[in-house]
Amino acid sequence: MRALRRSVTPSEQHLAAISLSRNILKLQVFSGTRKIGAYLASDGEIDPLYIMIESINRGKKCYVPVLAPGQKPRIRFGSFSMRSEMCFNQFGILEPFVSQRSCVEPSKLDLILLPLVAFDLTGCRIGMGGGYYDASLAAVASRKYWHKPRLLGLAHEFQRVEKLAADEWDIPLDGIVTNRGFYEAKS
Ligand SMILES: Nc1ncnc2c1ncn2[C@@H]1O[C@H](COP(=O)(O)OP(=O)(O)OP(=O)(O)O)[C@@H](O)[C@H]1O
Ligand SMILES: [Mg+2]
Repeated sequence: MRALRRSVTPSEQHLAAISLSRNILKLQVFSGTRKIGAYLASDGEIDPLYIMIESINRGKKCYVPVLAPGQKPRIRFGSFSMRSEMCFNQFGILEPFVSQRSCVEPSKLDLILLPLVAFDLTGCRIGMGGGYYDASLAAVASRKYWHKPRLLGLAHEFQRVEKLAADEWDIPLDGIVTNRGFYEAKS
């Protein structure tokens, strides 16, 4: 699936990103959202940059993952704008050049747009295998009544598979948005 994702041409990526952005703009959850976590696309991931630009234009705040120091796979979210100073992390992925202290925990966000390698219609997701999102979202997912960010996976339509086997630590998505449309997770 990753090879397939990397084989998407730049012009196809561009069109997919525009369609994705339109499909997110249609969602009710987007209009009420003030703090959005997204990511900087790599490895052929569908690109949420347009939706981040649109969010910033509408006065929303955008954040992208920043690796947290330590042995455990953990991410926090650093403020991101078109003027952010960036650096490469240990995986060669760009992140904003910000202090750990200025980063926020996922629980502070209203909506998190997650990258993924494959998804199914139950909201199960396979990531890149690091457990970064699963581990970092475990605390928010376990809270039943507290303020919780909505978790939406972003993908190219071809990343949808029939059924994925979820591990006990996998954090389910509330829905998935692709270049084709929106899928609310079915239980
Ligand atoms: N809450 C957690 N605490 C500690 N380790 C975790 C937690 N969640 C996942 N892991 C570890 O992360 C490893 C990778 O998990 P998994 O294969 O589900 O990654 P992934 O979902 O593809 O990656 P990501 O979450 O970064 O998108 C697993 O071996 C698991 O032990
Ligand atoms: Mg997982």
